[in-house]
Amino acid sequence: MNVLVIGSGGREHTFAWKLSQSDLCDQLFVAPGNAGTAQIANNVNIGVSDFEKQATFCLENKIEMVVVGPEAPLVDGIKDYFKQEKLQHISVIGPDKKGAMLEGSKDFSKKFMERHGVPTAKSKTFDAQNIEEGLDYIDTMQLPVVLKADGLAAGKGVLICASHAEAKSELKAMIVDEKFGKASAHVLVEEFLDGIELSVFVLTDGKNYFVLPEAKDYKRIGEKDTGLNTGGMGAVSPVIFADATFLNKVEEQVVRPTVAGFKKEDMDYTGFIFIGLMNVAGEPKVIEYNVRMGDPETQVVLPRIQNDLMDLFLSVKNQSLDTKVLKTTDATAVTVVMVAGGYPESYGKGDNISGLEQIKEGLVFHAGTTLKEDEVTTNGGRVLAVTGVGSGIKAALTQAYAGVDKVRWEGAYFRSDIGQDLLALKQN
Ligand code: AMP
Ligand code: GLY
Repeated sequence: MNVLVIGSGGREHTFAWKLSQSDLCDQLFVAPGNAGTAQIANNVNIGVSDFEKQATFCLENKIEMVVVGPEAPLVDGIKDYFKQEKLQHISVIGPDKKGAMLEGSKDFSKKFMERHGVPTAKSKTFDAQNIEEGLDYIDTMQLPVVLKADGLAAGKGVLICASHAEAKSELKAMIVDEKFGKASAHVLVEEFLDGIELSVFVLTDGKNYFVLPEAKDYKRIGEKDTGLNTGGMGAVSPVIFADATFLNKVEEQVVRPTVAGFKKEDMDYTGFIFIGLMNVAGEPKVIEYNVRMGDPETQVVLPRIQNDLMDLFLSVKNQSLDTKVLKTTDATAVTVVMVAGGYPESYGKGDNISGLEQIKEGLVFHAGTTLKEDEVTTNGGRVLAVTGVGSGIKAALTQAYAGVDKVRWEGAYFRSDIGQDLLALKQN
């Protein structure tokens, strides 16, 4: 079967890497892709939400499966678009527009969790009509108070306010002054969850599911989790504090009711669910759903899965995941993201990247890279990720950082403390 992967980041390179190992995958295309995907697949210059061009390309190239990486095309309704008659034979791995609202609207997702008894932080949503009530509600809350823009705000829409005064002034800024544009026309005022964060990933065919390996990511730009938020500077899987007891609770209290909820609410939900969780004194509470895999979490989750990914996707399409057995390795995977100097604020592009060919062990997943006259150059903030896999976190870290040390370009930056918190937990 011919397959089209939508997206251009490290996540999509990892999908392409795994799919390219499958005998069930004939021709593999990535739209728009990067310099890494160009080595193992055919890049196609089509934007992620240009459904018309994607559809024409699929028909011309006999593509029967579309694997969607980022959330934007899902929220924009790629699955619904591909339901039209001439495209019905093409399966889209990802949820429909209604399912994607679980990521597109935090209010929708909170209400979904409440309807299906999924444990989460207590919260209420306010807008311009009832902002006064919101200000009063803040006064009743324990500190800190969490404010969340309802819509997609490029990962910036969550504020943790240390005082009631700050929370009130931010609530006004979000609703009245449109601090995050339309995304903050509705704002959730939420209880603060005190715990350790991790993410659990699920692959579902809408009826059956697999809980995939969990991961922890490192969101801040600076060492020891300081500075601005980024898309993610590294990730580790497995996560040492997620023991079997905790993961069983996640499956029973979160995953099972979530997947059952998709069916009850008539969502056409296939593909991945990325569940952001807080471990609060051993109890899981959901912070958010994303309707896709994480980036850079994919770069540590997929290397731990031994199944043929195409075989799993075909079972998703046929709603027969229950006939498969998920096989994962006990190995630890660590990925370290290398970014352009200045990221996540302004940064340069077009710098030559050297040393990639010297990496003999470990996996290199490209993100913001492109080919300029056969040279690999930087083309984005997060440029590439190096994944190390080994028995135990130390071995995986050694392999990942040995790879990172070989790669050079002007202004390259990476965090040197990925996984150190988990290593310290292990040693205590
Ligand atoms: P989100 O955009 O929902 O992923 O939130 C961004 C980050 O804010 C999360 O990864 C958490 O670190 C933090 N966060 C969100 N909601 C809460 C909460 N209720 N309590 C504590 N931290 C939170
Ligand atoms: N690494 C976080 C995300 O993919 O949203």
